Parts: sequence; structure tokens; C-alpha cells
Amino acid sequence: MRILSGIQPTGSMHIGSYLGAVSQWKKLQETGECFFFVADLHALTVPQDPKSFSAQVMQTAIELIAAGLNPEKCVIFIQSEVKEHTELCWLLNTITPLGELERMTQYKDKSGQFKDSINAGLLNYPILQAADILLYQVDSVPVGEDQKQHLELTKNLARKFNQKYGKTFNVPEPLMLETGAKIMSLQNPKKKMSKSQPETCLFLFDEPDVIKKKIMSAVTDTGKAIKYDPEKKPGIANLLTIYSLIGQKSIKELEKKFSARGGSALDGKDASYAQFKMALVKLLVEKLEPFRLKKKELLAREVYVKEILERGRKRAQIIAAGTMQDVRKKMGLN
Ligand code: ADP
Ligand code: TRP
Repeated sequence: MRILSGIQPTGSMHIGSYLGAVSQWKKLQETGECFFFVADLHALTVPQDPKSFSAQVMQTAIELIAAGLNPEKCVIFIQSEVKEHTELCWLLNTITPLGELERMTQYKDKSGQFKDSINAGLLNYPILQAADILLYQVDSVPVGEDQKQHLELTKNLARKFNQKYGKTFNVPEPLMLETGAKIMSLQNPKKKMSKSQPETCLFLFDEPDVIKKKIMSAVTDTGKAIKYDPEKKPGIANLLTIYSLIGQKSIKELEKKFSARGGSALDGKDASYAQFKMALVKLLVEKLEPFRLKKKELLAREVYVKEILERGRKRAQIIAAGTMQDVRKKMGLN
């Protein structure tokens, strides 16, 4: 089974994007032939600073490896380094109905957000994504809910192309990532933790003192009990979710651990919010340490990371070039 997914280099990885996407990619790399790439061309559809952009792309690649993607088990590459992505994107443009692009929720959101600079790239974004996928004849594309529409378009384009020019592309299926646990903002637990608001995020690579500061100042709720109640106690519920996923303990176990019934450490009393938060800080500092150390190590070994990406590019390009040869022939180019 061949699997592919991409991530935009638009900010550091937070525990929401780690738990919601990358930790699941890590499992997939054990079972399938996986391709993961940094979607730098997609990121250029909104303003980026050319001075820092290439460092940002490199940082995203480093973070993927530091978070546990294993270059021995999957192919990791940078989208813009495989020119076939843009070539196929153009050719797919010629069979894409404009109406389908205009209907895309992400386009509507982003064109609203960047009103003064609605560029054609923002509209054509899903065609490039379809090219990313179809080039590699993949079976399965692990994505979050927000990418479902883009995957539908990809399937439509694959079918349409196959019908018009003869069987060329595998029609891929989305693999919806488990969304069971949505991690919420530390400052406003009714909103999703998102890198568009970095001050509300706990990053996977935060230093211990930063983790402590962020968790101790995370918004909590009225009352005292450490109980999972997302409606009445969204702050505590979010911290319990984080504790449960990172510490691999059930919420029930945690509720017990931090109640008077829980254990000797509490002297027969319920844990206070502060005690609970301190325990969470301790857990996070310990569990996130390997990620932090690995990122530091990789930052100091740029040549090694570049080698990984070069190997990835080569492997990706062989497959992409094979598909393009077929596409060009089918469309009557050379
Ligand atoms: P952001 O929303 O911070 O910009 P991305 O869009 O880069 O994050 O997220 C990549 C994927 O990570 C999403 O498709 C989703 O599956 C997952 N993800 C992001 N934020 C969260 C979150 N707070 N909780 C759970 N999963 C998340
Ligand atoms: N659009 C995706 C996102 O914002 C990233 C992406 C680009 C992607 N190309 C892809 C995901 C191909 C899966 C397959 O999250």
C-alpha cells in the first residue's frame, strides 16, 4: 500500500498537529510505503518572507524527523525540489472546472482573510495538491477533516483524466485521521490550538521553562475538581486530554489519580489545580525531551538532513518522472 501526505512549512509543530497528524503518520510508516513532503509551494499562496522562507522549510523537515518520521522507513522530501509537481499541476489545470475550485471552503476562508491579495494560486491550490498525490499513484492519503474536499477534487480529476485519455492515474482514497482528540488552545479552551495563534500553542519542542510557564498559566475553570467535563470545565478537560494522550493513561485513571481516592501522595485530599498542573508539567518535560534533543541534534547536522532530503528527492522523482512520461504521451506532448 502506497501512502502520501504533505504539511505546509508555516510554523513550528504544536502538540495538536503532532497528535492529530504526525503521530499517526509515524504508525503508517511501519506498515506502508510512505511518502511525506514539505508543501513549500502551497505555503507561497499566502505572503511569506523570502529571507527566512528556506530556513522555515528546513525547520519543518527537521521537525518531522525529530518528531519521529524515520528516513529509513519513509521517503521525506521537499515539494519544490521535484519539478514534476508544477508540470502536472499545469496539465491538470486544463481539465479542472472553475466552479469546483470556487466552491472550496478553504479558498473561501483564505480569500476572505487575505482580501487585498487574492491571487490565482489561492484558487488553484487544490490542483497542485491533486498533482502532489496523482504523481505517485498512491492508494491512501492521511489527512484531517479540513482536507476532505481537496481529496474529492483529486479523485474527480483522476477519474476525468482516465476517462478522457485512458487509464493513467490510480484513484486514491483519503484516510481520515482520527480526530477523537482535538487539542484546544491553552488560553481559550473553546477554540482549537492553532499555529495561526502561536501564543495559545504548546509546541512539541518548547523548552522546560516555557512548558512550565504555559501550563501553569493555562486557563482553567471555576470549581476545584479534576474532572473531565468539556462543557462545564473545558480548560481542565483539555489539560486532561493532553495528559492522557502524552502519558498514555485513560481519562478515568487520571480522574482517580488526582482525586482523594487517588493515592497516598495527596494525603487523602483532592489534588488542587496547581498540583495537577505541576504533575502535567513534569510529564510533558519528560516526554517531550527526546523530541527537543533530537531537533537540537538535527539543527547542528544540516549536512545530514540535506542528505536525507536529497535521497528523498531522488526516490520521489523516479516515480514522478515515470508518471509524467505517461501523462505527456497520453496528452499528445512529444
Ligand atoms: P494549524 O491548524 O495549527 O494551522 P495544520 O493545518 O498545519 O495546523 O494541521 C495539520 C493537521 O494537524 C490538521 O489537518 C489536523 O489533522 C491536525 N491538527 C492541527 N491542529 C490540531 C489540534 N488542535 N488538535 C488536533 N489535531 C490538530
Ligand atoms: N493542503 C494540505 C494542508 O494544508 C497540505 C498538502 C499539500 C497535502 N499537498 C498535499 C496533504 C497532498 C496531503 C496530500 O494540510
